[in-house]
Amino acid sequence: MTNIVLIGFMGCGKTTLGRWLADRQQMDFVDTDELIVRLENMSVADIFEKKGEAYFRDLETKVLRILLGEEQDGGENLRIHKSTVISVGGGVPMREENRALLHKLGKIIFLDTSVNELVRRLERDETRPLLRGGALREKIERLMDERLDIYDDTADIIVTTDNRTLNKVFDDIIKEWG
Ligand code: S3P
Repeated sequence: MTNIVLIGFMGCGKTTLGRWLADRQQMDFVDTDELIVRLENMSVADIFEKKGEAYFRDLETKVLRILLGEEQDGGENLRIHKSTVISVGGGVPMREENRALLHKLGKIIFLDTSVNELVRRLERDETRPLLRGGALREKIERLMDERLDIYDDTADIIVTTDNRTLNKVFDDIIKEWG
């Protein structure tokens, strides 16, 4: 069983590509944010606001462990059983422990998207607590500065997504797969 793990900045298209890819390859699809929302019964924005970012970050690690079957999930049966595309929140690779878990989960693909494109895609977004409240470009640039090298180093495959259709991104993945 080979799973595909999609990493990258908020708005890079992990969920869109992930669902499309899963459908195309007859794989399952999971999104770590969606699992967190399901387990907590609360939106990501509400978890940040009411419980704090540190609590959310611990949940991210917990969900990776649940997918690997290393932690119980209260009978939800979330452990991965068949080949799955796993889209992970943009902050997940920042924790060293998470990076090791991501490598255990599958082949890691970094969807590399330019700041210009991210600004365009995230302009009207209300769901990401880290980007709320103005100065969007500066916020993206600052976070990208902290994250880009880690995304690069964590990835087995890097593909750019600017001005590329899902089919083109897929072709690039196949070329790089090895
Ligand atoms: C975050 C990314 C979000 C979500 C949360 C924090 C981040 O997921 O986990 O808002 O730190 O980059 P997406 O990357 O799916 O938007």
